[in-house]
Amino acid sequence: MTKLMAGNWKMFKGPTETYAFFDAFEAPDGVDVIICPPFVSLEDAVGEEWPIYAQNVHWAAEGAFTGEISAQMLVELGVQGALVGHSERRQYFGETDETVRQRAEAALAAGLGVIACVGELEGEREAGETEAVLRRQVEVLPVHDRLVIAYEPVWAIGTGKTATPDLAQEAHAFIKSLHDTRVLYGGSVKPENAADLLAQPDIDGALVGGASLDPASFSSLCRIAASLS
Ligand code: PGA
Repeated sequence: MTKLMAGNWKMFKGPTETYAFFDAFEAPDGVDVIICPPFVSLEDAVGEEWPIYAQNVHWAAEGAFTGEISAQMLVELGVQGALVGHSERRQYFGETDETVRQRAEAALAAGLGVIACVGELEGEREAGETEAVLRRQVEVLPVHDRLVIAYEPVWAIGTGKTATPDLAQEAHAFIKSLHDTRVLYGGSVKPENAADLLAQPDIDGALVGGASLDPASFSSLCRIAASLS
């Protein structure tokens, strides 16, 4: 199956840096690519050849929700989907399983694609609660052919600590037993560790943070994914 490589830029790259990235970024055939820039750079990014996703989306079509953006607004801009439930949203902005479900459903209803993020905290893994946490986070998500799940163990995000391929494979197989969809791995994915992760049977691609900011390293990740598709 074709691997999917999604770059989550987080709060990096305004429009000027977005142009510079797309000038230098190249992806071969044989890999699906999605880029998730910050809201202010979406309009410039949608002119490029790859599908563009927002990093969040509200559940209401419009209303008194200062600072939020609706799925309809994203559609109007030509954006093709949205991340929901990233662990940084859960950790710093009060995102819950219920608000993640609402955001995912609104995005799907508007015709957008969704990458829904799940993953356990370090303490939860140490306490043997990984499967219970994943079950709770995954079971609220709608089953839909435009919804993809990203498994991102929180202890591996931006820390340089990658899950071992075996440990990631085990979590992916568990998620797929609950929800029949593509499952991406996320957490310190870089050109040096990507091949071993992407070679696992249930790892269908990656959600890449830090290593997606540099066009050379994200191009290299896309080549690795294409060679394993
Ligand atoms: P990272 O981030 O690749 O920088 O660890 C992944 C993510 O948060 O999506």
